[in-house]
Amino acid sequence: MAPPLSFDVLGALEEAGVGTPAYVYDLDAMQRDASAVVAAFGQRAPNVFYAIKANSAGPIVRALAARGCGADVVSGAELLLALRCGIAPDRVVYSGVAKADEELDLAIGCGARGIRAIQAESIEEIERIDARARAAGRVVRVALRVNPGVSFEELGTHAHVATGHDEAKFGIAKDDLPFALAEIDARKNVALCGLSSHVGSQFFRIDPYVTAARILCDVAKGVRATHALEFLDTGGGFGVDYTGTSPATPAADFVRAALGVMEQAGQGDLALHVEPGRCLVAAHGVLVARVIQRKRSRAHPEDRWLLLDAGMNDLIRPALYQAKHRVVPIGSTETELVAWRVVGPVCESADDFGEHALPEGGFDHVALLDAGAYGYTMASRYNGRAMPAEVFVSGGRVVASLARRPMGEWADERAAVSSPRGR
Ligand code: LLP
Repeated sequence: MAPPLSFDVLGALEEAGVGTPAYVYDLDAMQRDASAVVAAFGQRAPNVFYAIKANSAGPIVRALAARGCGADVVSGAELLLALRCGIAPDRVVYSGVAKADEELDLAIGCGARGIRAIQAESIEEIERIDARARAAGRVVRVALRVNPGVSFEELGTHAHVATGHDEAKFGIAKDDLPFALAEIDARKNVALCGLSSHVGSQFFRIDPYVTAARILCDVAKGVRATHALEFLDTGGGFGVDYTGTSPATPAADFVRAALGVMEQAGQGDLALHVEPGRCLVAAHGVLVARVIQRKRSRAHPEDRWLLLDAGMNDLIRPALYQAKHRVVPIGSTETELVAWRVVGPVCESADDFGEHALPEGGFDHVALLDAGAYGYTMASRYNGRAMPAEVFVSGGRVVASLARRPMGEWADERAAVSSPRGR
């Protein structure tokens, strides 16, 4: 089986002049998916805010912006990145439970009126945003991130990526909303513009998303009795099929369903915002790794390890969420498959990509599939390893790339950390 990209990944690495481990991305496919989500808005303004945390590479952010996406950011650095990629401040929303003052100042100060919405996650934060806005002499647009109180069991997703349940640190609990509104009323430099919620990731079915959207509409009804709103933001979380066997519901269907719920609930006059991350990029990126060595037990020949040059520092999802990314050999024609335990070079037992059926031999490289989201952005330099390379392909050609840094660089950098006395 070949990697499901429309081009030769090893050829792309060669064209880019980079080695492995390397992420290779198909920008055209990402743009096609973004266009489908934008189109789902029909005649309405397409308020698609790409969640930059999924993949913040400049070529990707610019490619998605060119298809009409704004940005959902969760840090000052992500906000700066969006701006540097040419996204207008009015096309950016900012969530995050603990935004630092300097991050708030950036969001408040950019453009003529600040960003589209700072999504406040606590009553205390409203007070802080107001104080920073007052200092800047501005009135800023604030949305309240509502925690709808839906459990991850109800949503059917992994506990680590569920954010809308009662105990989550995210958002303002429904019962606290009257207090949040009172806080807004008592302050002069914050203007309420919307309600947002993001209840988790990896939604395969529409129902839980619709449940959350319905709750948000109910909340909106109550809020609008006393306050004007412009939009409802139902977050991201549209699922991706990592198994290759059960396709997830297309993101555009989630958008249409959310619009339907808003109509039914009498909230159709509000704008809809969505914040997709994974579904736009995951399937269109692979992590290419070289086989460093094959290891076999002599006593138990069925025990085989495929030792790759890519590890958990490059792709942490298997270690962190027990995620299984499919592994396919590149350039192998063998059809007889055996079980290999595919692992990386990092000194941790969690550095394990799982058991995969692969040919006994005849290949030097593999691709880990669906690695375009939360791959590079979650990579680290653990064990002194360099960040992975990246190659961006469009129209069958490499249009941008980033090579790995030489290994001596990390050693120099860490060795150069000195005490105040220079020791
Ligand atoms: N909006 C907000 C406020 C979020 O917190 C997130 C993701 C998104 C949008 C985008 O969600 P998506 O459409 O990508 O599911 N590292 C994990 C995923 C963490 C998601 C965190 N928040 C993973 O690799 O599965």
